[in-house]
Amino acid sequence: MYKSVWLLVMVVAVALANPDGPPTGANPQLCETMLPGHGATTASGKVPFAISLNADKYEKAKSIDVSVYAKDAAAPFRGFFVQARRVGGPTYDAVGSFISEPADGTQFIECGTHNSAWGHADRNKKTRVTATWMGPSTDIGPLLFNATVVGLSKEEYWTEVLSAEITFGSANGVRSQGMLLSAMVLLAYVVRK
Ligand SMILES: *[C@@H]1O[C@H](CO)[C@@H](O)[C@H](O)[C@H]1NC(C)=O
Repeated sequence: MYKSVWLLVMVVAVALANPDGPPTGANPQLCETMLPGHGATTASGKVPFAISLNADKYEKAKSIDVSVYAKDAAAPFRGFFVQARRVGGPTYDAVGSFISEPADGTQFIECGTHNSAWGHADRNKKTRVTATWMGPSTDIGPLLFNATVVGLSKEEYWTEVLSAEITFGSANGVRSQGMLLSAMVLLAYVVRK
């Protein structure tokens, strides 16, 4: 009895806390289509938003910071929805997961796997939001971040706002660094002799 009352209180609290979040409940296609369900977009012209990454490789146990930002701070966005996808891969396949605390006004969303998508949780103006993402620990081919970003009005949104592609941090890279280090140690030894 107490348990179910407590559960109800929590569900209501979560619902109240996220009144304008991506309506995954009401919009079950969101994970796959990344369309906000506001009807057709009125947006046109150059995409005013972009995604930046602080690395160009995904590696085992190495996270990447992902930022969605407005190119012009005077033209912010209110909503966004982003996932990492395989380049040329199936669109329903969100890869990796977001692992930081979601920034203010944002939330992580389950799209097939835990916290594999990230989106807004309120309709406040945003010029830049950043989250930490952890990719697969093995090479599954090149990936990119694919976002839908909603401007100041909900009818104005851009799909396929894309990051640069990232590839798996190759063991070769690590091995050649190791070889370079050994060669330098050997050289230092020879020079000293
Ligand atoms: C981005 O996502 C949309 C919606 O799933 C999809 O149609 C499109 O092909 C994706 N683009 C890339 C480059 O993955």
